[in-house]
Parts: sequence; C-alpha cells; structure tokens
Amino acid sequence: MGFAKHLGIRIRLLPGIRALRLLRSHHFGRSAEERESARLQRIRPDNLFQPSGFTVPNRYPHILREVKALVQDAPRPLRLLSFGCSTGEELLTLDSHFPGSLMTGIDISAPRLAIAAERLSSLRQQGRLQLFQGASADCLPPDLPPFDIVLAMSVFRHHDLEAAPARCSHRLRFADFEKTVTGLAGRVRPGGFLCMTNNHLDFTETAVAAKFEPCATTRHDPRNPLYGADDRLKPQPERDIVLFRRKEQTGPVSPGPAVADHRRDISSGGITSGPTGQT
Ligand SMILES: C[S@@+](CC[C@H](N)C(=O)[O-])C[C@H]1O[C@@H](n2cnc3c(N)ncnc32)[C@H](O)[C@@H]1O
Repeated sequence: MGFAKHLGIRIRLLPGIRALRLLRSHHFGRSAEERESARLQRIRPDNLFQPSGFTVPNRYPHILREVKALVQDAPRPLRLLSFGCSTGEELLTLDSHFPGSLMTGIDISAPRLAIAAERLSSLRQQGRLQLFQGASADCLPPDLPPFDIVLAMSVFRHHDLEAAPARCSHRLRFADFEKTVTGLAGRVRPGGFLCMTNNHLDFTETAVAAKFEPCATTRHDPRNPLYGADDRLKPQPERDIVLFRRKEQTGPVSPGPAVADHRRDISSGGITSGPTGQT
C-alpha cells in the first residue's frame, strides 16, 4: 500500500518535475545571454557564426595597441566597424583606444544590439555611433565611406568546434565565411586594417586575402582549431594572423606608416576568453 502510494506520488509528480526541469533548462536559471544564445542555435538564422555573445571590455588590448600604432598618422576621425559587436563592450573599448572616432556596430542579434544601444546611448547622441542588425556588411548603406579598421573578433567561430572535429561545415561553412569576409574586406579603405581573432576559418585561403598583407600574429590558441576551404581540420599553426592590412591604393588616401615587419608577434597580453563554449 505504502509502496503503491509512493509509486502513485511518483507517477503524479513526474510530469510536474519534468515540466519544471524543462522550464528551468529553457528559461529559469539561465542568464539572458544564455537564453539568446540558445534561441539563436534553435532558430539558426541565415549566416549565423558564433551564437554566443560572450564579450568583456578591453578583451584584446595587445591587438588594439598594435593597430593603434599603425593608424597613428591616419586622418581623424577614424572610422571603425565592429562586426559581431554583441552588447557593445567592444565599441566602448574602441572609443577609449580611439577617442573621437566614428563607429559602426553590426550584430545578428536584436536583443544584444538593444543592450548595446542603451549602453552606448551617449555615443549615439553625439552622432558617433550607428548600430545595424544584420548578418553581413550588406546591412550597411552602400554609400557609407570605407573604414580605417574593420574588426570581426570571436565571430567566425562556433563553440562546438573547440573539440576539433575533423570537419566544420556542420557548424560553419567556409563558403559563408568567404562571402561574409569578402563583404567586410570591401569596406576596408586601401591601407586600412582587417582585424580578426578567435577564428576557426583560415582567411588566407579566401580569394580576397590576396588584397591584404599580414601584419601581426599571436600565439595559436588550441581552442581555435583552424579549418580550410576544403572543410577539413588543418595542421594547427604556431601562430594565428590577427591583423591584415589592405594593400592596393585606389585613389588619394593616406598610406599610413609602412608595415616594416609583416608578421610581428604580439602575443604578450593574451586574449580574454569566456568559459569553455562561450568565446
Ligand atoms: C562571442 S561574440 C563576440 C563579441 C565581441 N566581438 C568580442 O569579441 O568580445 C560573437 C557575436 O557575433 C554575433 N554574430 C554571429 N554571427 C553573426 C553574423 N553573421 N553577423 C553579425 N553578427 C554575428 C553574435 O550574435 C555575437 O554577438
């Protein structure tokens, strides 16, 4: 009898417990960021790369120091694009490294952009920041002047690839990367910079890479296994190229300082990564 009662209770409670667990895993106990990341993974919008929005202020100080030195003679105000700007910390950091610059942020996630818009309202009021929701540079007005620096930091990656499966196309397709990065590259002024880190896809295998020269490297992070255009895991490099300078001169633009050492190692300082699976 007691046993039956016990069973009865279990039978009655089980659906409730399941429902609670389900609710908890889908909503409660998760941060807004985790919920947004889960939502993106569920709906898989076209051209989604990294679903996680993990970001912190001043995440790449050594890379920004390097690019700052390289643009020191470029005419002001600088024009900067943060592709995959998430909740705006990267734009705030850019503003502190490049005061007075004109900034543009793009992110695929409307909720993250809403947080960025609130966080950066004073920059928007000053007319120094524009935010766009979109999955590529195609969301920008076509007549926007080109940028001095385009950053795509921790965007061309997916946390499931940290385990280095043999192929990557179940999470990231090289063709999507190539199309997207070509669009971004087209927005860099001649002599300007394309900055990418925490990346799983090899920019040097894209056709547009021929228009750029590598400027700076960091020690390879084993959590960023690299894949080629053939979708296969590559032998892991010792260094990751994180900064490229656009080569060709097409008009009266300031050439900026010469990049004497094409592949300066700027590893010191390290890159702040999120907890595993959140970079
Ligand atoms: C890990 S966060 C990086 C944030 C910031 N760049 C940083 O490095 O700290 C990756 C961001 O890329 C965005 N993202 C992923 N695919 C995108 C796409 N196709 N277009 C624009 N944003 C994208 C995500 O919504 C997320 O906010």
